[in-house]
Amino acid sequence: MTKEAKVIMGKYKIGCTLGEGGFGTVKFARHVATGEPFAIKILERHSVLARKFHEQLKREIGTLKLLRHPHIVRLHEVSASQTKIYIVLEYVSGGELYNKIRKLSEQEGRKIFQQIIDAVSYCHDRGVYHRDLKPENILMDAKGNIKISDFGLSALPQHLGRDGLLHTTCGSPNYVAPEVLLNRGYDGSLSDIWSCGVVLYVILTGDLPFDANNIALLCQKIVKGDMKIPKWLSPGAQDILKRILDPRPITRLNMAGIKAHDWFKQDYTPAVPYEDEEECTTIGDASVSIKQQTEEYDSTSPTQINAFQLIGMSSYFDLSGFFEKEEASERKIRFTSTYLPADLFEKIEGIASTMGFQVLRANGKLKLMQRRKTTLGLKSTPSLLVSAEVFQISPSLYVVELRKSCGDSSLYRKLCAKLSEDLGAYECQQLQKTHSCPVSLCAL
Ligand code: ADE
Repeated sequence: MTKEAKVIMGKYKIGCTLGEGGFGTVKFARHVATGEPFAIKILERHSVLARKFHEQLKREIGTLKLLRHPHIVRLHEVSASQTKIYIVLEYVSGGELYNKIRKLSEQEGRKIFQQIIDAVSYCHDRGVYHRDLKPENILMDAKGNIKISDFGLSALPQHLGRDGLLHTTCGSPNYVAPEVLLNRGYDGSLSDIWSCGVVLYVILTGDLPFDANNIALLCQKIVKGDMKIPKWLSPGAQDILKRILDPRPITRLNMAGIKAHDWFKQDYTPAVPYEDEEECTTIGDASVSIKQQTEEYDSTSPTQINAFQLIGMSSYFDLSGFFEKEEASERKIRFTSTYLPADLFEKIEGIASTMGFQVLRANGKLKLMQRRKTTLGLKSTPSLLVSAEVFQISPSLYVVELRKSCGDSSLYRKLCAKLSEDLGAYECQQLQKTHSCPVSLCAL
């Protein structure tokens, strides 16, 4: 006997898994009544929510739903059950661009790049930035045209763990603009353009422009714009790549510059965006018209959830996914800092001492220890043992890595929160649980 297909949201019959990631799963689904295919991103609800973000959620869904472009995966609906959040997306049948890359001619590559630029500039014109453009987010339809997925979703809960903190599952840093790495405050459009440039390089050459076997070196190469453009590419392709992959955002080609570039203009027919139409957005059990959302959304309803609470926090850059992995039993937190290493060590020592830690310096690391008192008042085994290390990412950016060897997790969290709050370069830090082998960075 065949198993009954599961129906969710009362109307979508769930099929096979299309993709899996830290965020959850993307499933194929069919609308029961119409037979229309969809892709549904399923997230664990516990990892997402804080009700105070309802208003923001409402606005964001409204914005994302209004993106209607032939080269953007359409967001149809967002809904929630007791335990899950469902994001219903247009189904794209041709797989990832990633799988096609090595077979493309320069002409075919240009056509794809033109479509990417059309889609990205359409979103930028509406104030939406992707912030995680890479070939994995570029799908192909049955006709060989591209559709960009996850526009505006870069900060979605794939980065959020049970503890509500940002977690890492984002893979490669290879597509990230230097100014984002340096957290100098950046223009979302120019940093997306950088990522488009990396995608173009990959499409045309089959290789990454910036690559290295450790994160520090990779970041250095990106920040310096240290890459080689193959001479076998046409002069036009070489020129546009060089101008887009300019590490200085001020001199980098902007959208208008790309569209005016001779290489880009060849055989270019701009895509025509679809006409806007008003539709209904579903969040939890509430259906609201986009145009009415701001006024009518009930922010106190307990059934409503925030699938997009992190949108708007995307200036935060999650470095932790760039590191190699470690033992599952270990817990690390990393945060970036602009303090110099000597200052960092001194400040960590000061903060930890104030919190009652004994601090030792050895082999370029700090050991922070808090001992449990025995009933006789004697010092016994440590109740918490933490090591702190500093790694250089660029001349002005460092990563502090805290690693708990053993002991009390809640005290460890307090220590991490205090250190990252006082020393971190970002508003948000992440506590992560990762798997296998130690980091290999340029330890100072
Ligand atoms: N994988 C991830 N998103 C998808 C989509 N919208 N269509 C098909 N496969 C996908």
